[in-house]
Amino acid sequence: MNLVVIGAQWGDEGKGKIVDFLAEDSELISRFSGGANAGHTIVTGETTYKLHLIPSGIIYPGKKVILGTGMVIDPQSMFEELATLTEQGIDWEGRVFISDRAHLVLPDYKAEDIELEKKRFNPIGTTGRGIGVTYAHKSHRDGIRIADMYDSNIWSRMPESYRTFLEPFKARIEKMKINLVAFMAEYKGKKVLFEGAQGILLDLDAGTYPFVSSGYSVAAGASVGGGIGPREIDRVLGVFKAYSTRVGNGPFPSEFNSERDGATEEMVRELGREYGVTTGRARRCGYLDLVALKYACRVNSIDSLVLTHIDVYDDFDEVSVCVAYEYEGETITDFPSSIEVMDGAVPVIKTFKGWNSSLKESTDYSHLPEEAQKYIEFIEEYTETSVDIISVGYRRSETFIRKDLWTRS
Ligand code: IMP
Repeated sequence: MNLVVIGAQWGDEGKGKIVDFLAEDSELISRFSGGANAGHTIVTGETTYKLHLIPSGIIYPGKKVILGTGMVIDPQSMFEELATLTEQGIDWEGRVFISDRAHLVLPDYKAEDIELEKKRFNPIGTTGRGIGVTYAHKSHRDGIRIADMYDSNIWSRMPESYRTFLEPFKARIEKMKINLVAFMAEYKGKKVLFEGAQGILLDLDAGTYPFVSSGYSVAAGASVGGGIGPREIDRVLGVFKAYSTRVGNGPFPSEFNSERDGATEEMVRELGREYGVTTGRARRCGYLDLVALKYACRVNSIDSLVLTHIDVYDDFDEVSVCVAYEYEGETITDFPSSIEVMDGAVPVIKTFKGWNSSLKESTDYSHLPEEAQKYIEFIEEYTETSVDIISVGYRRSETFIRKDLWTRS
């Protein structure tokens, strides 16, 4: 059973927490895209873990994790992250595997990423982690894969600066590298969790290009970058927040604006702790965009939605969502590809009565106040997709499921 968890907005939806929650029942957790641009926060008991490259399942003792073919891996960041996990008492040795087809992020690439951003006529606001440059080298057929470090011909022809950088990691990575497709074949029929990176709207093809990342954030990426065939994907979960956020530049039709929405943005940002795990940047915040969420459901064949951060609205008298865009006298309900349209779009808002009570103690859908249920039911109706997991707080325990997700029905 292969379960794929992706972000259904612009990233930072709480995927790390949900993957961590689902990891308990899975035998293997595999990340299939992105690199150290991602940032996942997991809170268990009193400990907070911040992960960038290592899949969230690592926190569970004994679980195996994979860094898949679709990832771009900065070995220095990876070993720093692993050292931090060791300091936090996580024994990861023998549990972290890396596809030998994954590409390496080299120091030159990071510098190039920062330079390129300065020269762009459309600055994206990248994380500066060398992500786009590494994927570009990959497409140019000029990149360095994990396997290439152990190919004597390629190794000897590599620029010396690459060899100097990679040499200290070579022996350690050799013990972690795998032939991913063969490895995954051994797990056929077992419970495997695939963890996406960023969110669908930052996907190179499906996202708000050019204001996107360079990997694939779509569910199909679990096959392309995760070492399984497309028919092996059994269920797709799309994680979304009760509101929207975006880090970096680019269109955001449902973004709060102070003239219309007063201090809502600041309130949501503070209550939701909306600051980047990777860059510390304040995230832009806006209404839950159902036009975009429906698009995400379609593009990814999402079977189940996962709602997070709903508790952020606990003290709000009203909770609003964006149900359409108005642009030059037209009402738009299909997510547009034109940046100009998205930039000029005015969100059409539907407002619900707030629940004015804490949802943190809820452990079942029936515990939710009627107002919260009405809000969730509207999302389900609009997107034609059921909301099957609800997260009501940061902790692993503050999560409940509405149906067993490890079955095919
Ligand atoms: P890059 O991935 O560093 O090239 O950045 C491209 C765009 O994606 C920028 O707007 C980043 O802020 C955004 N981005 C990249 N990774 C994440 C993430 O994990 N969460 C949210 N935004 C991200």
